[in-house]
Amino acid sequence: MIYLDNAATSFPKPESVYAAMDRYARTALANPGRAGHRMAVNAKATLDDARHRLNLLINGAGPERVAFAYNCTDALNMAFKGVLHPGDHVITTDLEHNSVSRPLVAKAERGMISLTQLKADGGGTIDPDAVRKAITPKTRLVALTHASNVLGTVQPIAEVGRVCHERDVMFLVDAAQTLGVLPIDVRAMHVSLLAFPGHKGLFGPTGTGGLYVAPGVKIRAWREGGTGGDSKSPTQPTGFPEFLEGGTPNLLGIVGMIAGLDFVEERGIEAIHRHEIDLCEQLRAAVADNPLIVPVGHADPTRRVGTFSFRCEAMGSEDLAGILDTSFDIAVRAGNHCAPYVHKAVGSYADGLTRVSPGPYNTADNIRKLATALNEVTQTG
Ligand code: ALA
Repeated sequence: MIYLDNAATSFPKPESVYAAMDRYARTALANPGRAGHRMAVNAKATLDDARHRLNLLINGAGPERVAFAYNCTDALNMAFKGVLHPGDHVITTDLEHNSVSRPLVAKAERGMISLTQLKADGGGTIDPDAVRKAITPKTRLVALTHASNVLGTVQPIAEVGRVCHERDVMFLVDAAQTLGVLPIDVRAMHVSLLAFPGHKGLFGPTGTGGLYVAPGVKIRAWREGGTGGDSKSPTQPTGFPEFLEGGTPNLLGIVGMIAGLDFVEERGIEAIHRHEIDLCEQLRAAVADNPLIVPVGHADPTRRVGTFSFRCEAMGSEDLAGILDTSFDIAVRAGNHCAPYVHKAVGSYADGLTRVSPGPYNTADNIRKLATALNEVTQTG
């Protein structure tokens, strides 16, 4: 199988991820901090080290500000359910994944918040000035994806962060498509809340992710329960990060995620990004003469992560993806990518688009085979 669906989850994982998880599961997988024996103490140290590594990666204010979550959606829910109050105004965009839009629209439909959904420009980018103009005295939060999971367009996070900082509004960034692929500096970018998955750009297994909460952000615990220490407290202990982390964490997954982070740091974020963009550009060039393959979103590769989405004039996106899977052994994602507003904005709702998202293990040969398949299916090759 030629796997080109890394925006959904990265595959394969580096060999070192499988090895680290196997070793840890066989020798060290105790319940972190839930007992005084050495295995539990060492398991807690593994978690603390992982927080430290993630905090360094994003230049956070301290490892205790990184709470583990079970995926990016989980982290986003921790944020939205933890920081919003009745009567708040929230600004978001039409680039957002359902993980951002659904919790916010649900709150708006219940009358709890008012919601402004800003429109991206034709290429798929939000204008920071539009964010500035949308802020009202009731605005508590701006929630923005770092890069669209459909178009791959990278958003001006630092500029929007500056606007939020100047206006004293919290800024949430959904880094589902960018952590491990683009540099993120939460302090320089004035990010109040950063939600990220472990199973995409960090090459961990599914079931991993986290939420960075900047100092000063007032957040309620969404997931309450056992935290290891302070068992006598009748309610959630207030110290970070345990305040946000009820229940046994996915320690084995976190071990895999940190082994994945080692891979990212060895290879280099910039090199990974460049490789993925180069492959997308090779595909763009290889289908440029095919009038039935129509790329969507702005073309400048320096403003995108490694996703290439296109409309096929010869058939529906799901049909095309099905043929690529069954006849050519190529995995891509079609449809609406859990992001209906983006598709509405670019005119591809409801059939959707076909999305190709390469990763570090994909090659130019993979892309040539995909291009040949596309030309054959549309009968222009
Ligand atoms: N959000 C993931 C994607 O874009 C699953 O495919």
